[in-house]
Formats: sequence, C-alpha cells, structure tokens
Amino acid sequence: MDDTPVRDAHPDRTLIATGASASALLIALAFLVVVTITTRSSADTSSVAGASLDAQLERGQAVYAFSCTTCHGATGSGFAEARAVFPEDHYHCTRCHMPLNPPVMTQQQIDQTQSVFSLGDAPPLNDPHALARFGNAAGLHGYVRATMPRWDPGRLDDDAYIDVSVFVLHLAGLLPERDDALSLDDLAGVALGRGTAD
Ligand code: HEC
Ligand code: HEC
Repeated sequence: MDDTPVRDAHPDRTLIATGASASALLIALAFLVVVTITTRSSADTSSVAGASLDAQLERGQAVYAFSCTTCHGATGSGFAEARAVFPEDHYHCTRCHMPLNPPVMTQQQIDQTQSVFSLGDAPPLNDPHALARFGNAAGLHGYVRATMPRWDPGRLDDDAYIDVSVFVLHLAGLLPERDDALSLDDLAGVALGRGTAD
C-alpha cells in the first residue's frame, strides 16, 4: 500500500515480463476475492424489504470504485478522468494495453503477446443524455451485467451489478427520489430520458 490508493490493485509491468508474476497475480486475486466476499455479504441485505437506498448507494459506490473507476473515472467523466490519476510510469496505458488487442484476454494470450487487453475509450457515465439510449434502468443494468467490467464481464455477483447500476444512475443524476433500495424489478420502472427502449 503506497502512494496511490486507486492504483494499488493495478498490476505491475513485472506481471507480464517475468515468471515470478504468479505471486503478484495471486495477491491481486486475493484482494479481489476479499472485495467480492465483502460485497456479497453486505449485498445480502439488498433483497431484504426496507433496505435503504443510502445503504445501496454506499455498496454501489464501493463496487464502482473497485471495478469501474479505473476506466470511467471516479466521478464518471470518462477515460481522461480515469487516466489522469495514474502514476507517471503507468500513464501511457497503450504501452501494455495495446489498442488492437481484444477487450478480454486469457493469461496464455498475455504471456504470448507480452501485452494485455485493450482498454477502449470509456465514455462518461455522468451524462443523462448518453444513458437515455438504454430506455430504462433495467436496460442499463442488463448492458452493464453483460459487458462490464469490459476486461472481465460477469465477474461481479448479481447484487453487486444491481448496486453498481444504481450508483451509475446516481452519477448521472437519474436516481428517483425514494427511501428504499431498488430491486431488479424496480429498475424497469426507472425511465431514462425517452422512457422506452429503441
Ligand atoms: C477496461 C475499461 C473499462 C472498465 C473497467 C469498465 N468499463 Fe464500462 N465501458 C468501457 C468502454 C471502452 C465502453 C464503451 C463500449 C465498449 O467499447 O465496450 C464502456 C461502456 C460502458 C457503459 C455504456 C455507456 C454509454 O453511454 O454507452 C456503461 C453504462 C458502463 N461502461 C458501465 C461500467 C461499469 C458500471 C463498470 C464497472 C462495473 C465498467 N463500465 C467498467 C470500458 C470499461
Ligand atoms: C506497464 C504495463 C501497464 C500499463 C502502462 C498499464 N497497465 Fe493496466 N494492466 C496491466 C496488467 C499486466 C494488468 C493485469 C492483466 C490481467 O491480469 O489480465 C492490467 C490490468 C488493468 C485493468 C484491470 C484490473 C484493474 O485494476 O481494474 C485495468 C482497468 C487497467 N489495467 C487499466 C489501465 C489504465 C487505464 C492504464 C493507463 C492509465 C493502464 N492500465 C496502464 C499492465 C499495464
């Protein structure tokens, strides 16, 4: 744990370059497991009737900070915001995340190419107009669940996907005023912009 908390989870160049990478990866994975377990146990309460929206937002923010900030930025302004907080030696993302690489890569592909998955250009999430194309919050959730985080879609558990989608609504200023946490069913009732899917 040193200077940049946001980047503690980001692996080092040595992960690609040396065989000793396994331990670094294991540490990273152990960290991910801890976060996943924490998220899951606290997320259990989200299905309990009466769980508050505030508590859900807190969980969603934690998921976002760990799994989304790296590409979309802490306030959801997009890739430029995300990149700006990286230390200098990691600032040139494409040095390792080669733009022509696929968005998801196996460890074998990483070892073979000595490079990692492409990052793409993460769009802003704090833009209510951009999110309108999902029609409603269930559409947004379905997209996020199927495709994000882009380098490993589906890695979060069900509750974490709901919580982080609710946090994205918050970033975009699209969260309905209410006290209770939103369930998956509730999401369909939250219209984004036009109110119906294309
Ligand atoms: C590796 C970088 C990366 C990570 C990590 C990532 N995203 Fe993305 N995201 C992208 C890119 C790039 C796009 C644009 C579509 C594409 O290329 O897949 C995108 C698109 C989106 C969109 C659609 C926005 C729009 O206006 O069309 C949403 C919503 C989204 N991401 C949410 C999330 C959430 C929530 C997380 C965390 C669970 C996350 N993303 C993690 C890179 C990332
Ligand atoms: C020196 C090489 C290198 C540079 C530079 C680099 N990365 Fe990475 N990155 C890696 C490696 C290695 C991994 C782990 C890949 C794996 O295990 O599948 C990784 C993983 C990631 C992940 C997924 C894990 C996480 O922490 O969320 C994201 C997102 C990411 N990098 C974003 C970036 C961004 C944004 C930049 C530029 C600001 C960047 N990286 C610069 C090597 C690099």
